[in-house]
Formats: sequence, C-alpha cells, structure tokens
Amino acid sequence: MSTPKGREIIISALKFNPRSAVSKPHFVDYKLEETPGMTLFIALTKIREEYDADLSFDFVCRAGICGSCGMVVNGKPALACRTLIANYPEGKLTLMPMPAFELIKDLSVNTGKWMDAMSKRVESWIHSNEEVDIAKMEERIDPDIADQTFELDRCIECGICVASCGTKLMRPDFVGPVGLNRVARFEVDPHDNRTHEDYYELIGDDDGIFGCMSLLACEDHCPKHLPLQNKIAYLRRKLVALR
Ligand code: SF4
Ligand code: FES
Repeated sequence: MSTPKGREIIISALKFNPRSAVSKPHFVDYKLEETPGMTLFIALTKIREEYDADLSFDFVCRAGICGSCGMVVNGKPALACRTLIANYPEGKLTLMPMPAFELIKDLSVNTGKWMDAMSKRVESWIHSNEEVDIAKMEERIDPDIADQTFELDRCIECGICVASCGTKLMRPDFVGPVGLNRVARFEVDPHDNRTHEDYYELIGDDDGIFGCMSLLACEDHCPKHLPLQNKIAYLRRKLVALR
C-alpha cells in the first residue's frame, strides 16, 4: 500500500553570514512535502540534508529541553523542535533569527554569550556568609519554598522571552525577562542572604525592573510557561518601596 502524499509546504528562511564580505540578507524558499507529525526541526533537518547543506540553525535535544533552537516563526519567537507544521494551515512558514542576540549565521544566534553576560550582571549564584560543611546533613527546606524555586529554575535559557520583549528591542541594555526571572529565583531561595537593597543595586533602574512595560509577550511566548509577569510585578512592588 502506498503512503498518502502530504501537502506541499514552503519554508522561507532568512540567510545571511555577517562574517562574509559578500553575503547580503535574503530569503530562500524551500518546498517540501509535509510528513505526519512533522516539526519545524524535522523540516529544517530535511532541508539541510536534501536541499541546502549551508543552512545554519541550532538544535541539541529535539525535545524542548536544551533551549538552543529558538527562532522567529511567522513573526513570533518559538522553539523549532516544538513547532508543529500542522499548526500552520496556510502551509508557509517564514523564518528569521531571533533579534536581540548576536547573529552567527542564518537562523543561528549566540544566546549563550548573552545569557552568560546576564548571569554575571545579576550575580546569578547563591550569596551566603555561612561556611558550608559538606560533612553535615543538608538543611531541610520548606517544600513550598522548594517548589517555588524549582518552578523558576525550569527556565531553559532559550531567549524566546528576550526576543519577544519590546523593551529589550528598544533598550539594548535591558536585563530582559529571563534576567528578572533569575533574580526572582534567588529572591525566593532562603539559602541566598541578599536583601532587597542588594537586589535594588543590581536591577533598580530602567535597564532592570523599572524598564519593563508589561507588554506580556515574554510570558505569552515562553515555552516553559513561566510566570514571568507575576514575578516581575512582585519584584517591582518590593523594589519600588526603596526608590
Ligand atoms: S523565561 Fe521562558 S522564554 Fe525566557 S529564557 Fe527561560 S524558558 Fe526561555
Ligand atoms: S533542540 Fe533543544 S529545545 Fe529545541
């Protein structure tokens, strides 16, 4: 029995190599046949294997875990490996690299470099004066507090909230929803001895907590459904009292 033919789809991808003196940004259309359950990751892999070995994009896990496959799909940032072609009835997907990050080539951007700078900027590690004795039993932690910390730790650093953020696009030094989420994660963790005054020093300005215009796209697009706007509003309430 022959397999029924899938519909023809068109993937239109932006191609540009910023390191080449002759490269200019342009779109290339690739026509291919949709297969059952096809994700954008599968489609891009097929394109690279069969039509254009030069097309650059990133992926590692193919399961929405590593956060490396973010790109702009029909105007909205999304993970390629979690994007089902069947959800695009018009059969045409236009792909661009995520803004706000350094472009490596085509659809590949350097989110790692940005996340590293953000982590240093918000001092993304436990600040404590207590000596750690690894021979001692770990201290118990209230399960509710542990849940709250783990909830915010689910961030996969994909950068989709940053690429979705109007403030970030207008204000290049804005720490971004992911940066504010990181502060919220340590604020809730009783192992971290930092005070609200300390957090104010880090993010108490328009490039930090007071820059967010509550446009909500970060939370709408976050593939992990993190409560970004709730946490930003909470931090803003706490820190505005110190102004
Ligand atoms: S907060 Fe969500 S969208 Fe932003 S980097 Fe983390 S997982 Fe990605
Ligand atoms: S390939 Fe890892 S999140 Fe998409």
